[in-house]
Amino acid sequence: MSIASRTLLPLALLTVLLGWAGLANAKEEIVIGHYASMTGDQATFGQSEAKGVDMAVEEVNAAGGINGKAIRVIRYDTAGKAQEAGNAVTRLVTRDRVVAVLGEVASTLSMAGGRVAQQFKVPMVSSSSTNPDVTAIGNMIFRTCFIDPYQGYVVARFAHEKKGFTKVATLFDQGQAYSKGLNDDFQKAFKSMGGQITTEQAYSAGTADYSAQLSAIRETSPEAIFIPGYYTQVANIARQARKMGIKAVFLGGDGWDSAKLAEIGGEAIEGAFYSNHYSHQDPRPEVQEFVKKFQKQHGDVPDAMAALGYDAARLLLDAIKRSPSTKGADIAKALSETKNFAGVTGMISIDKDRNAQKNAVMLEMKEGKPAYVTTIPPPGAGDEKPAPAPAPKAPEKK
Ligand code: PHE
Repeated sequence: MSIASRTLLPLALLTVLLGWAGLANAKEEIVIGHYASMTGDQATFGQSEAKGVDMAVEEVNAAGGINGKAIRVIRYDTAGKAQEAGNAVTRLVTRDRVVAVLGEVASTLSMAGGRVAQQFKVPMVSSSSTNPDVTAIGNMIFRTCFIDPYQGYVVARFAHEKKGFTKVATLFDQGQAYSKGLNDDFQKAFKSMGGQITTEQAYSAGTADYSAQLSAIRETSPEAIFIPGYYTQVANIARQARKMGIKAVFLGGDGWDSAKLAEIGGEAIEGAFYSNHYSHQDPRPEVQEFVKKFQKQHGDVPDAMAALGYDAARLLLDAIKRSPSTKGADIAKALSETKNFAGVTGMISIDKDRNAQKNAVMLEMKEGKPAYVTTIPPPGAGDEKPAPAPAPKAPEKK
């Protein structure tokens, strides 16, 4: 029993020791933390990510661990709340003494947890938080995904170039850094391509009624509505919009990626497009092997969070293996030196801002499932018509 699980905790604790059989004689272990939304209206993010993380840890343990030591994951549920995220990382660091932390998915939560990790100089790797401010917290905070200035550009370019849209409205969640930031990034990119934003509307996650915002949007007759939110709210917005007779195409970002999107959204979400980190239909062998393995274990097709969780955990364990010790500074240095790590979600190199530069895909909701449409590389990296690029770079230090 770990110390943590003997104590009464306000947070739900799960400690996972996987593939232990391969390490029957291991006396020591390396403990890493994971904080994620296992419950609440972002629950599939945490649940999927946890499946990916556990698969990666299981594989490493089955292959003998790291220097003969087994990997153990201590996991706390954030329930999608920023305060819980901060508490979870505090507990992982001060009580569980983890050597590194994986998480969170939602950018606002990664910022809350990231500030704690940075303060204690414990490396943190977010698999999926795309707001630029997350890794800007400091030199201990890394991510294995692209960032939102690029994601906004991807959706704008798709809307402009592939769909020929000229008039788009936006509707975002003002309580989420991710949603606010991506709303701005999309608008900036779409306008730079000559597009018009007919209106910008905001909501708060607590509300169930979006009719005021949707009426305002309907007044401006856009061809499409960009909704950079999380799946629960997006699905409900889509249903209400269709009920109100709004026929515009729905566009969104990675926060849509959940089986619940179609479960809740039903018909209303058919024909909608969103940007994402990967498609399970990608024929690359890394993807197909992962999909097969995941399906065998869990019975369903892995979403992007599962793939990103798997990649982030593998990348972290690879860095720990290359690190001369399990001290925070050593692991952070190894993480910062990661180059061309072959992930399921693409090739991952950690840049000087501790971000990863990767391609995004566009998916279309078809018969309740996300179908691959196209891949849009970063600006300047080729493709038919290089469009003007927003500058996703942090200010250069001289
Ligand atoms: N990028 C989102 C955020 O920063 C989180 C997310 C990633 C959600 C991938 C789903 C899939 O908040």
